[in-house]
Amino acid sequence: MSLVRRRTLLKVIVLGDSGVGKTSLMNQYVHKKFSQQYKATIGADFVTKEVQIDDRIITLQIWDTAGQERFQSLGVAFYRGADCCVLVYDVNVLKSYDTLDNWREEFLKQASPSDPKTFPFVLLGNKVDIDGGNSRVVSEKKAKEWCLAKGNIPYFETSAKEDFNVDAAFLCVAKTALTNE
Ligand code: GTP
Ligand code: MG
Repeated sequence: MSLVRRRTLLKVIVLGDSGVGKTSLMNQYVHKKFSQQYKATIGADFVTKEVQIDDRIITLQIWDTAGQERFQSLGVAFYRGADCCVLVYDVNVLKSYDTLDNWREEFLKQASPSDPKTFPFVLLGNKVDIDGGNSRVVSEKKAKEWCLAKGNIPYFETSAKEDFNVDAAFLCVAKTALTNE
């Protein structure tokens, strides 16, 4: 019987419109920090975080990407080998929800996973803190319908600012990514 835990590195790619809070969610998750100031991501960069799932230690390698088109410079090689794709939209900005199909299709085109139908995605509806939820334009129901239509993608409502549901969302990302290992 071996007591040695297997180590696993999982590659996660975070996509979504500019300003939806991709970088903020990752900063909150990994560094427990939040900044009000917006600084556009240029190109792509990753952070790592270790997560324990049952008796396994998983290293999540989470890739942050640029939502602004002029800062996107990612080649096919970047997407290859991804174990999970996290899509983020802002519940207060309709356009960021409407573009989810594009982000998902772009990912599938670039990453060309062996089975696009079962490739693990997770959707995050961010900034639920704003105005106590009064300024949101995309309902939870609507978001869940989209997820169901795309093969039952797990969905989380999050706030990077309030650290709401961020850990839960990324734990799900880790578990979902594991299924694709
Ligand atoms: P790009 O790098 O351009 O793709 O943007 P991004 O998706 O990384 O967005 P970023 O994390 O930089 O956040 C954009 C702005 O929204 C910043 O001013 C953040 O402070 C703010 N923000 C991010 N998440 C939240 C949140 O959950 N609630 C609130 N109120 N503001 C947030
Ligand atoms: Mg960013």
